[in-house]
Amino acid sequence: MRVQKFSSVFGWQADPEGTPPAPQGGTGAFACQPGVTLAALLLFAGSAWAQGAEVPGRAEALRICIQCHEFERSVAPRQNLAGWQATMDKMVALGAKGTQKEFDAIVEYLAKTYPGEEVPKIKVNEARAIELESGLSLPRSQAAAIIQYRTKNGDFKSIEDLKKVPGVDVAKIEARKDRLLF
Ligand code: HEC
Repeated sequence: MRVQKFSSVFGWQADPEGTPPAPQGGTGAFACQPGVTLAALLLFAGSAWAQGAEVPGRAEALRICIQCHEFERSVAPRQNLAGWQATMDKMVALGAKGTQKEFDAIVEYLAKTYPGEEVPKIKVNEARAIELESGLSLPRSQAAAIIQYRTKNGDFKSIEDLKKVPGVDVAKIEARKDRLLF
């Protein structure tokens, strides 16, 4: 038989009562793998679920903050509640999917778990539309108007310059003046 011929080449004796060792070993190792993966998955899902249940917002963060980049990147900054709120707004503007309730829970979780003193500054003359939009809580059209004005007239020198942009919400800009860098 072929199997026996191979077996003698590789130096083992075919066991008349059992299956030949080579194919058995092969399938055995292969069959074992999905089991291990499944166990690991269950363990991971189980612990994520257990921790998420203990800490409000964690499960939501683990689910939503990995949609576009690694979780490590999501939690890299250390910032206060306002800072995390600004990050959350930015991610939503970029397309993060979830409910308002989930977003609020995540912000609270991140501010508690990764706290910091600094509120991120907005570099008015370098910021992209998306950063102006989330950082200043402006509608997209106003952020676009600021960029357009900047492109046409050059850098803003002060908050007074910024307020000159036609159609821009002056009150919102005034409310965040401490965060503006020119
Ligand atoms: C829809 C995709 C998407 C999701 C979901 C998302 N992010 Fe992001 N995130 C991005 C992109 C794109 C960038 C890079 C932005 C840039 O370069 O300005 C980024 C960058 C970041 C940064 C780097 C600093 C910054 O502001 O650019 C942080 C921090 C961050 N994300 C946190 C989070 C957190 C926290 C969550 C979960 C609430 C999250 N992200 C979910 C798309 C996403």
